[in-house]
Amino acid sequence: MVDLRIKIGGLTLKNPVMPASGTFAEGLARVLPFDRLGAVVTKTITAELRGGNPTPRVAEVGQGMLNSIGIPSKGVPYFIAHTIRDYERCSAPLVVSVSAPTAELFADVVRRLNVPGIAAIEANISCPNIEEDGKAFAMRAKSTAAVVAQLRKATHLPLWAKLTPNTGDVAAVARAAEQSGADALVVANTVLAMSIDTETFLPRLGSIMGGYSGPAIKPIALRMVYQCAKAVTIPIVGCGGIATAEDAVEYMLAGATAVQVGTATFVRPNAMLDVIDGLTAFCERKGIPRVSALTGGVKDRGLQVDKLEALP
Ligand SMILES: Cc1cc2nc3c(=O)[nH]c(=O)nc-3n(C[C@H](O)[C@H](O)[C@H](O)COP(=O)(O)O)c2cc1C
Repeated sequence: MVDLRIKIGGLTLKNPVMPASGTFAEGLARVLPFDRLGAVVTKTITAELRGGNPTPRVAEVGQGMLNSIGIPSKGVPYFIAHTIRDYERCSAPLVVSVSAPTAELFADVVRRLNVPGIAAIEANISCPNIEEDGKAFAMRAKSTAAVVAQLRKATHLPLWAKLTPNTGDVAAVARAAEQSGADALVVANTVLAMSIDTETFLPRLGSIMGGYSGPAIKPIALRMVYQCAKAVTIPIVGCGGIATAEDAVEYMLAGATAVQVGTATFVRPNAMLDVIDGLTAFCERKGIPRVSALTGGVKDRGLQVDKLEALP
């Protein structure tokens, strides 16, 4: 029997597989036994009721999906009164994704979530910060440090910081999050992208640009997990284009302790279960007794990672 348990800070999960925020909701319980998941992660919630972005909000582009859903949210009061209750029946720990437009408002949302039933907070710091011209908090080390420090003071729950792949220096952002008190990193959110319909000459998304996800972004996010794992000692949850157990293994070898599955669930609602079963099969085939042994197992080619950016 392979031991699939992993630890993220103080939290022990029965396996390393969980949904990516925004690609999963309570309704999936009809087709997917949530109890089998390592954790469940909610769609990002905001303080108050919010609408979403203009339509069309999604487009299939190449080997991935473009979306600009925005963050439609029913707000914290609804979440506490209803959504937490919906998840109470499930044994998997509940990770609540949150965002806000300023560091102070962010901390306020997190403070209001100090309620029973929540296992960890995932701070979606890939969202726009209105105090920095709408640039996402996680674009820069300084704004990352400022918001994570405020969030750290606002909760005793484990705090995960979800980074954006759109920054030029993800290792510096990762270090800033760690030094400001994050217990784990989620690497990463969607890649800023766009697509134009050549028949109509219209951008395919109502808000012109959006986030790219799915298989096409896997090598990008995987590279960032590798860089972050070299930069920090806190656990990393890998996210981006994971659809199979082999994808999850690759992320773990690059340094991830756990993985999130997003777009693949839209294609195959049971994708996460295939990843869990496939991890067991992989470890059995390789004679690996504990899945956690995969983390950081990529072999060394004798190069120093900080010199890699200089290579062509
Ligand atoms: C339709 C859609 C909605 C999303 N909503 C959120 C969200 O609310 N909060 C968040 O942090 N990430 C959100 N994401 C990003 C995913 O959580 C994930 O980081 C990204 O899609 C990359 O993983 P994937 O390639 O497995 O989909 C969303 C992605 C998609 C496709």
